[in-house]
Amino acid sequence: MSRILILGGRLLDPASARDETADLLLEGGCIAAAGSDLDSRGAEVIDAAGCWVAPGFVDLHTHLREPGQEHKEDIASGGRSAVAGGFTSLACMANTEPVNDDPATTDYIIDRARQESPARVYPIAAATKGLKGEIMTEMSALMAAGAVAFSDDGKTIMDSGLMRRILEYSRLVEVPVVVHCEDRMLVLDGVVNEGPVSTKLGLPGNPAAAEEVHVSRDVRLAELTGAHLHVAHVSTAGAVKTIREARERGVSITAEATPHHLTLTDAAALDYDTNTKVAPPLRSAADVEACRRGLVDGTIDCVATDHAPHAVHEKDQEYTAAPPGLIGFETAVPVVLDLVRRDEISPLELIRRFSTNPAHIIQRPGGSLADGEPGDVVVIDPNRRWTYDPAKGYSKSRNSPWAGLEMIGRTVATLVEGRLVYHVDRGVLVP
Ligand code: DOR
Ligand code: ZN
Repeated sequence: MSRILILGGRLLDPASARDETADLLLEGGCIAAAGSDLDSRGAEVIDAAGCWVAPGFVDLHTHLREPGQEHKEDIASGGRSAVAGGFTSLACMANTEPVNDDPATTDYIIDRARQESPARVYPIAAATKGLKGEIMTEMSALMAAGAVAFSDDGKTIMDSGLMRRILEYSRLVEVPVVVHCEDRMLVLDGVVNEGPVSTKLGLPGNPAAAEEVHVSRDVRLAELTGAHLHVAHVSTAGAVKTIREARERGVSITAEATPHHLTLTDAAALDYDTNTKVAPPLRSAADVEACRRGLVDGTIDCVATDHAPHAVHEKDQEYTAAPPGLIGFETAVPVVLDLVRRDEISPLELIRRFSTNPAHIIQRPGGSLADGEPGDVVVIDPNRRWTYDPAKGYSKSRNSPWAGLEMIGRTVATLVEGRLVYHVDRGVLVP
């Protein structure tokens, strides 16, 4: 096995609260040592001067589109795009074709990922058959096949009795249920946040309340069942407040926010760019501010991209017809670094939300630079300026609201299991 020495970076290890300049040695697929004057014989050296060196990012919310929608993305292209953004592990949602609601599909995804993806891939299985919100999936069989959580992401489970049973079963198997909270009867045909922007655009609005009533319901059901509820893509101030209060009461709840909900408001939709159409929608400035505060104070545990690729011809329609979603792996670092540049969060705490916390939520390795931990590492230059061009990225899709924009901060190198899988100057290296 190869040895790699990452030289002279700022080591950020939330697991040990370490934040200091040091070298990091990887050997035999694991972290071998941190410090100075490490034995570098036979080691490939990565210069990390001026860079952050952190545990690889763990993305709890991605859509890899395989099986079934490989014209948008597949496990190979999604895995490449992920490591180019600094993600070493991904959890992928079940809204594939067929839906990942049986062990054979879970098995297929894991098998393909082993062959094709430079990032580790952890399937999240559907909570209900066909994502129809009617019949529960067989959780223990899906877990035996490798599912790390259950979710009908993209769809909301409207039947509260069924949701209760899903939470009860999830408690027995001790995995989180990831909820996409949008009350369908309140969303109706809403495509942008309900408010001045929807009025101005003349587009049907999707009210913040659509998210908030379901977060409230699911918190109540988590309280009733004792299950671990994980709230996906939190987008409203009311949802943040409900989650914060639930936590204070001791409810077993975790939550994530996306780079887009942390930085973009509904004003981004004012030119009808369908790359700003996402579910839940971009919200008001007050909502964005509340999500940022939630991330900073720990109410929101992690950043997750909700990387949701769609083909050019699918997005190139009128706003109401285009599918919701945007790609997010390769822009997550520069976009979210805005919070560090504005002194809202420290680098160490931000890394905790990208790596340590999400790894804990799905109980998988990662999130630590301690000796013997897996050699999943990211090197970031927080000051590097570049212009984002999705056509030059690794995703098969280009649906990004940040296309053509100048970015500050970039993933320089990504290592998975002690192997260099991405370097900004050399591109994706394996498999
Ligand atoms: O914007 C979104 N896109 N939200 C979802 O919940 C689903 C996702 C997708 O699959 O495209
Ligand atoms: Zn979702």
